[in-house]
Amino acid sequence: MENKTLEMIRTRRSTRAFQKSVPSSELLNAVLEAGRYAPSGGNSQTARFFCVTDPAVLDRLAEIVLKCFASMEETPGMYRSKVSSIRRAKTGNYRYDYFTPVLIIAVNDREYGNAMADCSCALENMMIAANTLDLGSCWINQLHWLTDEPELKSYLKELGVRDGETVCGSLAVGYPATESGLPNREPLPRTGNEVIYI
Ligand SMILES: Cc1cc2nc3c(=O)[nH]c(=O)nc-3n(C[C@H](O)[C@H](O)[C@H](O)COP(=O)(O)O)c2cc1C
Repeated sequence: MENKTLEMIRTRRSTRAFQKSVPSSELLNAVLEAGRYAPSGGNSQTARFFCVTDPAVLDRLAEIVLKCFASMEETPGMYRSKVSSIRRAKTGNYRYDYFTPVLIIAVNDREYGNAMADCSCALENMMIAANTLDLGSCWINQLHWLTDEPELKSYLKELGVRDGETVCGSLAVGYPATESGLPNREPLPRTGNEVIYI
């Protein structure tokens, strides 16, 4: 079926190399509004989104993330992306956010049962919006994993994250560092995500 929205969903891919320039506030607002218009359990609308474009803040977050992972040890059965973060951090050369010019951090009330579900709906809306606006995006999970690490917690508090909030996920957004400047839109083949019709 030909449909622009479905096409933007099918062709959304993760971007992991960005141009330095920050997209206009008009574009960023459009992405954020797509997130704000996501559904939420019981229409709670408790998620909040920190849109970080200040390079000093992005660098400080990256420094904390590197430090936290470098001090961690792998454990048997650990999620492989976490293992990869630890290994790369231990080399001292690790930038978890791919030097994105914009990081949108999604937080929600930690005691709220739909915290992650609501933020996931919002982040996916933002990724589709980014694709349709010719921006690249990538879900970045490190701040979620490290949300309770004291140094990160204290810095996030300085940025305005409340005591009762937890980081559910974050999103790198920017112009892709591709030759065309456009996102890679080659869909990944589906090997799972089975559908069972009954
Ligand atoms: C919950 C979740 C967490 C993810 N965390 C990361 C991450 O921390 N870093 C990263 O580079 N990509 C991350 N991704 C992106 C996935 O690796 C990516 O979506 C997957 O490999 C499929 O590729 P595609 O997005 O290009 O279709 C995450 C995606 C999701 C949904």
